[in-house]
Amino acid sequence: MSVNVQLDKQAIANSFSRAASRYDAAASLQRNVGDELMRQIPLAEGRVFADGTTVDLGCGTGYFTARLQDALAGPVIGLDLAEGMLSQARTNYQATNTIDWLCGDAENLPLASDSVDCLFSSFALQWCSDLQRAFSECYRVLKRGGYLLVSLPVQGTLIELEQSWKAVDQERHVNDFFSEQEVAAWLAEVFQHHPEKKNHELFSVVTETRFYSQLNQLLRELKDLGAHNINRDRVKSLTTKGQYRALHQAYETYRTDQQLLPASYQVAYVCYRKG
Ligand SMILES: C[S@@+](CC[C@H](N)C(=O)[O-])C[C@H]1O[C@@H](n2cnc3c(N)ncnc32)[C@H](O)[C@@H]1O
Repeated sequence: MSVNVQLDKQAIANSFSRAASRYDAAASLQRNVGDELMRQIPLAEGRVFADGTTVDLGCGTGYFTARLQDALAGPVIGLDLAEGMLSQARTNYQATNTIDWLCGDAENLPLASDSVDCLFSSFALQWCSDLQRAFSECYRVLKRGGYLLVSLPVQGTLIELEQSWKAVDQERHVNDFFSEQEVAAWLAEVFQHHPEKKNHELFSVVTETRFYSQLNQLLRELKDLGAHNINRDRVKSLTTKGQYRALHQAYETYRTDQQLLPASYQVAYVCYRKG
């Protein structure tokens, strides 16, 4: 792994660790998306891995790890890159002493091959620098017949913010997202997608739109989620008042008839089976 990628990982881990205490209050979209992903578990024949091992990959503060523990009979592991998130998870769910919390990277999973029955990952894998490698790692650790359930935002997410920044300068202010086509192609390659083998249960992209009365509410939320401005080629200088004014002006062009500012997310839902 190159020094730059290491530094990026450290920056991502630091940003999420700093946000850990505020994350839950800001994560309503993440809750809705994770709930939707939980609903896909019956699609994946929940009973198949009911007493097997489940991993919540990029578990954050552990909300869905605890839900998985409630829903399934087998052992559950919450795995995350950010120590700060894991320590918040341990605090939140200290009564649930059956969950193992593990620090690790989705692109280099600290798990044995063929050891996991269900890998659940909601709104986390978009932070990988090499998503195909993360999918390969998921495939490696899954047992035959095991399921990968993933949600992640793809290209088109926060398009209003990205376009509004473009009216201000040519720097990158909004995180890069993988395209739907890239995600689908990497999954198909890693899981050797054969429709006749039915190892491709679900791939869909859904638009979720959030509304705010003021742009500052969206910017604050992104900061509280730890999800602001940790791009590789991010702008390192402070944004001036003039730039902020221009950003606000540009975003105003999206204001709806109901006087609200939209922020759209394109969310991919994935369910694959290791054949
Ligand atoms: C937006 S939070 C989502 C947390 C949780 N899944 C939820 O839905 O509330 C993204 C999480 O992914 C973690 N993460 C980012 N990159 C990761 C990686 N390469 N490996 C493991 N976790 C990672 C972050 O530390 C953060 O806790």
